Amino acid sequence: MLPTINPAKTKAWKQLLSHAEEAKQWNMRQLFSEDAQRAASFSLQHGDIYFDYSKNKISAKTLQLLLSLAEQTELPAAIKSMFGGDKINQTENRSVLHIALRNFGNKAIKSGGKDVMPEVRAVQNKMKAFCEAIHSGKHVGYTGKKIKSIVNIGIGGSDLGPLMVTEALKPYTVKGIEAFFVSNVDGTHIAETLKKVNPETTLFLIASKTFTTQETMTNALTARDWFLKKAKDPRHVAKHFAALSTNSTAVEKFGIDINNMFEFWDWVGGRYSLWSAIGLSIALTIGYDNFEELLKGAYDADEHFKTTRKLEKNIPVIMALVGLWNTTFQGAQSEAILPYDQYLHRFAAYFQQGNMESNGKSIDRSGKKVTYQTGPIIWGEPGTNGQHAFYQLIHQGTELIPCDFIAPAQTHNPIGDHHEKLLSNFFAQTEALMNGKNLAEVKAELKQQGLDAAAINKLAPFKVFEGNKPTNSFLIKKITPFTLGQLIAFYEHKIFVQGVIFNIFSFDQWGVELGKQLANKILPELQNSDKVTSHDSSTNTLINLYKKLR
Ligand code: F6P
Repeated sequence: MLPTINPAKTKAWKQLLSHAEEAKQWNMRQLFSEDAQRAASFSLQHGDIYFDYSKNKISAKTLQLLLSLAEQTELPAAIKSMFGGDKINQTENRSVLHIALRNFGNKAIKSGGKDVMPEVRAVQNKMKAFCEAIHSGKHVGYTGKKIKSIVNIGIGGSDLGPLMVTEALKPYTVKGIEAFFVSNVDGTHIAETLKKVNPETTLFLIASKTFTTQETMTNALTARDWFLKKAKDPRHVAKHFAALSTNSTAVEKFGIDINNMFEFWDWVGGRYSLWSAIGLSIALTIGYDNFEELLKGAYDADEHFKTTRKLEKNIPVIMALVGLWNTTFQGAQSEAILPYDQYLHRFAAYFQQGNMESNGKSIDRSGKKVTYQTGPIIWGEPGTNGQHAFYQLIHQGTELIPCDFIAPAQTHNPIGDHHEKLLSNFFAQTEALMNGKNLAEVKAELKQQGLDAAAINKLAPFKVFEGNKPTNSFLIKKITPFTLGQLIAFYEHKIFVQGVIFNIFSFDQWGVELGKQLANKILPELQNSDKVTSHDSSTNTLINLYKKLR
């Protein structure tokens, strides 16, 4: 079980609070000029991933206090607990074992006393055989044609991970295969997707851990109706529909042959499920071998996280501690994830769910309201697009926004000098955010441009960049299935570490229930023409207006 230590009551927390006051006076530009070794002291390399966190307002003492906080909240024991299969998702009485899905070691991993690895490997073998059958043309559509389109129907964790990864690894796409993702219950999403595919050559993957999610079931039924309109015979459904789920009863009830079900288990959280059968759309799109490379990258990161006992050398631990320093102790409320790689354009969206659904909690593990800030708001877009949209606020706004910059050294598309231009921006932004530009520098620049003293004084304040803005840089040799697996796992473990320290339960998501319950109550009210009076006046008016306008 996880400990129930209130972090705010630890010695380290109190020391960090007063240390944070001192840190307010620090200027990173100065910290760099005083210490030629700063980059070396505050960076870590693991395989092809270089992680530089030196552009944060931290000192050796900050790090030491943060590491003490990790020790005092018993992080090492919590890591052991997770890998040991303890039921650390206590509010749902479940183990948290996404690490088993990418385990290439030969030791047993147990949940409730049972080794989960045989089942994991059996499903992986089934996935592999299925991919081979689709790619080789052994499994064909109902008219004998090869499958060309994979339509994954799922939402949240049953959509965001596979979508993000298939986009991130597009250069690895199997020839002749195209992946589509339908998530929104808005009929537009499925309607627009169905326009692009042919029922004879399309495979639908109904991806849902529970197989009860309203959006997914609605889209799945629509897809089946559409398919049967053309295929006519319900027996053809078997060739064109597969289910990725933990709920075999619901899968059968839906009419999908149990042989076409790829199973996973309740110890896989939805937002941690891309490594499971939920990853079938990934394996079908980039090939099973590449999917396995992704798992191997994650396994490598898991081993790093589990076995690097010197926490100052442990990348996810440092990511978590630096993040916590910037948010909890420096007052930042959000974190931006800014990949300088167009293929990673869904990376921030993926970790929006990963982080916010995990650590967006305000009740601690003892059932009490927390007195400190927990999970941050996660957002972001790829560079350089973001530079021309929201970076203004990061540079000159009143909010403190710690940013993760991620870039590959090698591009999959070496065209002219595109990549040098992209990377010059990647390097420039973290430098600019750290250094800023002070008043004297602005004035000197304006003088050089030939402005007179009055004009300089008038314009200068607007052109000042305070700098001192925290950033992390991840420079990755190349985005491959393996390095992507590592990177995703690092971020997952960062979230875990922060959750442990925050003393919250990171693996449930009760906060999404209320809206679902109310929507279920409202739906029948929309299905007649009666005046609705059962809600507050605002909701009643909105519903009645909708009924009038529709
Ligand atoms: O609404 C939140 C959620 O429960 C997520 O945690 C999950 O990833 C998503 O819905 C989809 O759930 P399912 O895979 O059961 O359809």
